[in-house]
Amino acid sequence: MSFEIATQKRRTIRALQPVSPLPDSNIIDLASNALLCVPSAFNSQSTRLTIHFSESHRKLWSITGAALETNLGSERYNSGTADRITAYGKGYGTILFWDDMEVIEQMRKVAADHYKDKADEWAHQSNGMHQYYLWVALEAHGFGVNLQHYNPLIDEEVKKELGVSGSWKLRAQMVFGLPEKGTVVGEKEQKVEMEERLRVFRANEEGGKNL
Ligand SMILES: Cc1cc2nc3c(=O)[nH]c(=O)nc-3n(C[C@H](O)[C@H](O)[C@H](O)COP(=O)(O)O)c2cc1C
Repeated sequence: MSFEIATQKRRTIRALQPVSPLPDSNIIDLASNALLCVPSAFNSQSTRLTIHFSESHRKLWSITGAALETNLGSERYNSGTADRITAYGKGYGTILFWDDMEVIEQMRKVAADHYKDKADEWAHQSNGMHQYYLWVALEAHGFGVNLQHYNPLIDEEVKKELGVSGSWKLRAQMVFGLPEKGTVVGEKEQKVEMEERLRVFRANEEGGKNL
């Protein structure tokens, strides 16, 4: 599948089966390719990934469920949220996207003065590129994928469970699995006309603005 077609097919799919169209080693390769290929400001490489299959994936979503239930109270948690968390746990796996804050601090330290306040923003942008790379790549291989944000609520518990570095900050959780049978994704609503969102400038032969 071409990159262009994969980007057109990519959607949010929340109803997933614990089934993979690929061996785990190929999924791990996709994640290492993202880390090798995705750009970062000053090539700082601040993004970190953890991949969770089987028991580790289920444990992650049980930690998330417990944290949400404590935070929201059982009544609110059980009126909708619990079903969503159960559905994520039914996926095949999860990729966690992290930033290493020490790397970002180092980038800030060595950056020219007029770039110092950009370090966080640029790290977010690069982390988002890793997310998009993997979302599209997984879609291209036949997975359904969705992106969640239960950070920072779950950070401490997950970090303790995984033993990852104290300087890592959780940014996003990407759940993947084979789409449930019969999944139909509706046409994506486009909220603003293309002419408002995309403007094309080229040299104006009649002598107007030349941008
Ligand atoms: C930065 C970002 C944050 C998102 N956060 C969530 C989220 O926390 N939970 C969720 O279910 N979807 C989340 N989404 C998915 C969006 O809701 C979804 O991409 C959007 O509605 C467009 O639908 P599509 O993915 O099918 O094109 C997020 C997407 C992006 C890009």
